[in-house]
Amino acid sequence: MDLQRKYTCIISICLLWLIFVCVFLGENAVIITKSLMYQVSSEDIRGHADEDSGILKDEMFKSTVIQKPIPVNDNCPKMGDISDWTLQCKYNCRAINMTFDSPSRVQLVPVCDQDKGYLVRESTQVTDSTPVLQFQHPCIRTFLRLNCSSNFPVPNIVHYVWYNMRPMRFYHFLSVYSVFKIQKPCVIFIHGDFMPTGEYWNFLLKIVPNILFLQQIPPVEIANKTILHIEHKADITRLNVLKEYGGIYMDTDEILLRKLDPLRKHQFTLSKAFDFNLSNGLILSARDAGFLNIWIKAYDTYDPNKWGYHSTIMPAKLSKIYPDMIHVENKTFVRPDAGHTKDLFQNNFDWSNNYAIHLFMRYYKKVYSLTSIRTLNCTLGTVARFILFGHKELCTK
Ligand SMILES: *[C@@H]1O[C@H](CO)[C@@H](O)[C@H](O)[C@H]1NC(C)=O
Ligand SMILES: *[C@@H]1O[C@H](CO)[C@@H](O)[C@H](O)[C@H]1NC(C)=O
Ligand SMILES: *[C@@H]1O[C@H](CO)[C@@H](O)[C@H](O)[C@H]1NC(C)=O
Ligand SMILES: *[C@@H]1O[C@H](CO)[C@@H](O)[C@H](O)[C@H]1NC(C)=O
Ligand SMILES: *[C@@H]1O[C@H](CO)[C@@H](O)[C@H](O)[C@H]1NC(C)=O
Ligand SMILES: *[C@@H]1O[C@H](CO)[C@@H](O)[C@H](O)[C@H]1NC(C)=O
Repeated sequence: MDLQRKYTCIISICLLWLIFVCVFLGENAVIITKSLMYQVSSEDIRGHADEDSGILKDEMFKSTVIQKPIPVNDNCPKMGDISDWTLQCKYNCRAINMTFDSPSRVQLVPVCDQDKGYLVRESTQVTDSTPVLQFQHPCIRTFLRLNCSSNFPVPNIVHYVWYNMRPMRFYHFLSVYSVFKIQKPCVIFIHGDFMPTGEYWNFLLKIVPNILFLQQIPPVEIANKTILHIEHKADITRLNVLKEYGGIYMDTDEILLRKLDPLRKHQFTLSKAFDFNLSNGLILSARDAGFLNIWIKAYDTYDPNKWGYHSTIMPAKLSKIYPDMIHVENKTFVRPDAGHTKDLFQNNFDWSNNYAIHLFMRYYKKVYSLTSIRTLNCTLGTVARFILFGHKELCTK
């Protein structure tokens, strides 16, 4: 009799525990699901002065869309391993559905009156339009001061220039997603004449909550000389944008592989492309940096017919004259260089010492996709899988 009572009691306690645990987990599950859908309430995004997370909390970078892959056997290099380059092992990579159903998405929306204002994170319908702001919209300055302040000279904000292009390609997507996932910037600005279009852009808007399109008409002239090439216009715009806001400029075919924070302590950073020139495909700059102003001034001697002179050879010359104003990386942003594109599209290049890699897509006309890179056994494949799945190994299919 006594024993029976004792058991009943134990069972009741267990049941109570079970109910408690279920409710607790259930509630948490809701919270986790919510944050995965990027519906973070305003409380969650406080603490914006925090160097690492910025205004974005870490859980916002986990995605329900791109799920964790599984290695086919135990001897596989671990997730994120970039020391073993045998590429013998395979992973079961999950499918990525770009058109997945998402009831809402979070975007940065300006709240402005005249010259005051800031940006808020707002949950909107997927079908709602994406806001377009002008490049020097007063809200942006306020937003950066309030929400993206930093102890480093280089703020954790990323800029792209998007001229003369419409549909987003796979490698553009990969570039922006690499920045989002690895650098976790406070905000990603796309400066362009027209907003990108297409499935990759729509997918990005659904999974990257801190992207903002800023409209800017390409410059027509500099130092009284007409700018002929659209590439030169983009060269000049990136300098103007960094002068105005500071931050990290990325080419649309530059993929980030490692966090740039160790370099954000310098006022200005470029990487060598070849021994005689510096790449302008990835630039770190403090707002209104001294070297930047000297470089912009050097455009007084701009010659529209010299292809890479003012954009790559000039900064190399200036870096010799003003070595204290610039930190120069030894090719860690652009290896392999333009002369070794085979190392990108045919061979497997060990990029473990790189901060970033330049894909030189203009030399290569083949179309890649979220599907084709799964089994692509070359550098582009390892880079794409590392960004998308968190490992560089080949996928089973
Ligand atoms: C992707 O998701 C959409 C919407 O949920 C669905 O209609 C479609 O069938 C999915 N595609 C694949 C390949 O799973
Ligand atoms: C920026 O900061 C302001 C003031 O603290 C806040 O109201 C706003 O929601 C923040 N915006 C974002 C996008 O976090
Ligand atoms: C551009 O032209 C104006 C007058 O035509 C002149 O005052 C100015 O110095 C020129 N600027 C440069 C950088 O040559
Ligand atoms: C210098 O570096 C860039 C890489 O950014 C390269 O594409 C360019 O052709 C190089 N050479 C010259 C002469 O500008
Ligand atoms: C740059 O790196 C290469 C190897 O990639 C090395 O041979 C060279 O000595 C380095 N140069 C400097 C200045 O460190
Ligand atoms: C991938 O390519 C490398 C050479 O870059 C080769 O050693 C490796 O065996 C290949 N992996 C597979 C699974 O074919």
